[in-house]
Amino acid sequence: MTKELESARKRLEKLRREITYHARQYYVLDQPEIADAEYDKLFQKLLELEEKYPELITDDSPSLRVGAPPLEKFESVQHVYPMLSLENAFSDADLDGFEERLQRFLNDQAPISYVAEPKLDGLAVELVYENGVFTLGSTRGDGRTGENITVNLRTVAAIPLKLFGTDLPKRLEVRGEVFMSLEGFKRLNAERGNAAEALFANPRNAAAGSLRQLDSKLTARRPLDFYAYGVSDPSMVSCSSQRELFKLLNEYGFKINPLVRLCPTMEEVKEHYRHLLEIRSRLDYDIDGMVVKVDSFALQGRLGNKARSPRWAIACKFPASQGTTRLADVDFQVGRTGVITPVALLEPVLIGGVTVSRATLHNEDEIKRKGIRLGDMVLVQRAGDVIPEIVQPVLAKRNGNEQLIKMPRHCPSCSHDLIREPGEAALRCVNPHCPAQRLQSLIHFAGKSGIDIEGLGKKAMEQLFTEKIIEDIPDIYTLTADKLENLDGWAQKSAENVVRAIADRKEISLGRFLAALGIRYVGEVTAHLLEQRFHSLDRLLEISKEELLEVESIGAQMANSIVDYFSDPSVRTMLQRLMDLGVSPQRQDTASNEKQPLENMVFLFTGGLSSLSRSEAKEIIKKMGGQVSSSLSKKVTHLVCGDKPGSKLQKAKDLGISILDEKGFQGLISKN
Ligand code: IVH
Repeated sequence: MTKELESARKRLEKLRREITYHARQYYVLDQPEIADAEYDKLFQKLLELEEKYPELITDDSPSLRVGAPPLEKFESVQHVYPMLSLENAFSDADLDGFEERLQRFLNDQAPISYVAEPKLDGLAVELVYENGVFTLGSTRGDGRTGENITVNLRTVAAIPLKLFGTDLPKRLEVRGEVFMSLEGFKRLNAERGNAAEALFANPRNAAAGSLRQLDSKLTARRPLDFYAYGVSDPSMVSCSSQRELFKLLNEYGFKINPLVRLCPTMEEVKEHYRHLLEIRSRLDYDIDGMVVKVDSFALQGRLGNKARSPRWAIACKFPASQGTTRLADVDFQVGRTGVITPVALLEPVLIGGVTVSRATLHNEDEIKRKGIRLGDMVLVQRAGDVIPEIVQPVLAKRNGNEQLIKMPRHCPSCSHDLIREPGEAALRCVNPHCPAQRLQSLIHFAGKSGIDIEGLGKKAMEQLFTEKIIEDIPDIYTLTADKLENLDGWAQKSAENVVRAIADRKEISLGRFLAALGIRYVGEVTAHLLEQRFHSLDRLLEISKEELLEVESIGAQMANSIVDYFSDPSVRTMLQRLMDLGVSPQRQDTASNEKQPLENMVFLFTGGLSSLSRSEAKEIIKKMGGQVSSSLSKKVTHLVCGDKPGSKLQKAKDLGISILDEKGFQGLISKN
C-alpha cells in the first residue's frame, strides 16, 4: 500500500469510528452528542474520501447506509438454524397450560422464570455478524430458506453495521423484527398520497414492501426500525439467560424493546400481558400480542424444539379487532390526482368499540387477489387508527347470489373515460377539469398537508364548492365574510375568522405552497428541495428538465411532471391570478430554514432541577426549536428527570420515551 493510500485508510477508519459512535448515540441510545449538521459533515467527508478511494470501502462502512446499486433479484439464503414460528395462547388458561406442559416435560414442579415482551407486528429477519461486522441479512422465508436482503438491511439505521465491544464472537446470528413506527407510516403514506403513489394498507405492509425493494436506495428513504429479540443459537454467546442476552445485545449496539420484562412467575406474565393490552393503543408501533420465553438458556436447551416451534416460548395473541359483516355496495371515489379508489360500503358492525360502515378496497388488483364479491360476508379488520380494511370473504357463507365487482369504465364524477397505465395498480380519470378532482385538489390545498387554512377543512370546502363560491384555488382569496355569512351554518364570527386565516396565509414558504399545489410526484420533501435549489416561483416557471435532473433525487418522471405542470397555460393563468391577489410564496431565509437542534423533540419535566429553573429550561428548549409538554402523551419524546421524579417516570419508561437525567439534558442543550 502506498503512503497516500495508507494515510487515507487511516483517516477513513477514524471517520467510520466517529460516525458509528454518533449513530449509536442517536439511534440506539437516543442521546445525541453532536448536532445533525455536524454528523452530516462527517458523513459527507466519508463519502468524498470513499469516492476517491473506492478500493478502501469496507463492509462496515456507514456509507453503505445510503443503499447500493439495484439488484436483479434476491439470492436465497439457507438459515443455519431454522427460523421457527410460535404456538399461540389466547387466554390465561392457555398460559397455565403452557406452564404445566413445561413442568411435565422437565419433570420438575419448580417455578420457572420468564421473559415477556411485545410481539411486534413487523418482519422477522436474521443478521449475521462475522468478527463483529454485519455480513449477511435475510428474511425468514419458509423458515429454512430466506432471501438475501443484506443491502437493504444495511440502510436501517437501528441495525449496527459493526458491533461494539472487544470480545466479539467469530460468528453471531441475531434475530429480530424490522418494523415501521405509526408516525413513520403516516408520514410515508402522506408523502405517497401527495406524490399520487399507491398507499400502503398498514405499517407491516409498508415495512415489508420497503425491505423487498430491489433498489436499496429506496429502502434507505423509508423510516424502518429494528428491535433485536434473540440469537439463532445461545451457544454463540456467553450468556446463560434471555435476560442477559438482551443486555449483551444492547451493549453490542442493538435496540432492545423497553417493554421487555423479567417475570419470575406466570402471574407476573399475565400481569404484563394486561399492561401491554392497556398501553397498546398508545404505542407508536403495532404489536399483536406478547411473546413469553423461558428465561434460562439451560432450560430452553432441555425443552428443545418441536417441528415448527420451540417448546420454551409461546405467543399470547391480543383479541383481534376484527368482525364480519355484509358487503352491501362499492363506492368509487375520485382522488385529487384522478385515482379511483373502490370503497366498501358495509352493513354497520361494531369492531373494537367502533362502528365500521366503510372500508378501503385499495384497487382492482386487491379485490381480485382477495376474491371479494358484492353481497359477500366479509372479515373486516381495524388496526390502530389505520382505515379499516377487508381481510377476506367468508366463503362458507356464500349463497350463489354474490356478484363480481366491476370497476367503472367512466369517471363517476365527470364520465370521462378511465385509464390504467401499464405497471400501475390505479385506475385514473385524466380529465383535468373533472369536478371531483378539482374539489379534492382544493381540499388538499387548504388542508393540513397544504397551506393549512384554519376553518377551511373538508366540510367547509365541499359546501363552498357545491355553492360555486370556490371553484378554483384563487377563488379562496376572494372569499369575504359577507359571502360566507349568507351560507347555512356560518356565523359572523366564524366567517371573519376564516377570512383572516386566509389573509394570514398570503405570505407563505415556497416549499409549502408547491406541496399544496399537488403537482404529481411532488410531495413535501421534493417541494422543499425545489425551494432550496430554485428559490422562487418565477424561476420554476422557466425551469428546464435538464436543470431539474441535476438535482439529486429528482428523476425523469418527476422532472417531466414539474416541467409539464409549469408550462400548462391554465396553470400559469391560475398562478398569475394568485399573485395578483397578493399571494406571495417566498423562500424562507436560510436561518429559519436550517434544521433547529431540538426540532421535532417534545420535552416533559418531572422532579426538580438543580442547575437551572424549569422556566429557564423551557425557555432554552423553545429557543432551540423544541416543544415543552405539560402532560404525558404519545407526542412526548424526552422525559427530563430531576430530583425525586414522580409517577411519570415509570409511565414514560413503559411508553418507550427517552429518559434524560439533568446531566443528560445539560449535555443535549450544550452540545447543540
Ligand atoms: S421470538 C422461535 N420475539 O413472531 C421463535 N418473535 O411466530 C422465536 N415476533 O416470525 C421468535 N415479536 O417475527 C419473538 N419479541 C418477539 C417477537 C417475535 C414478533 C414474530 C417473529 C416470528 C413470529 C413467531
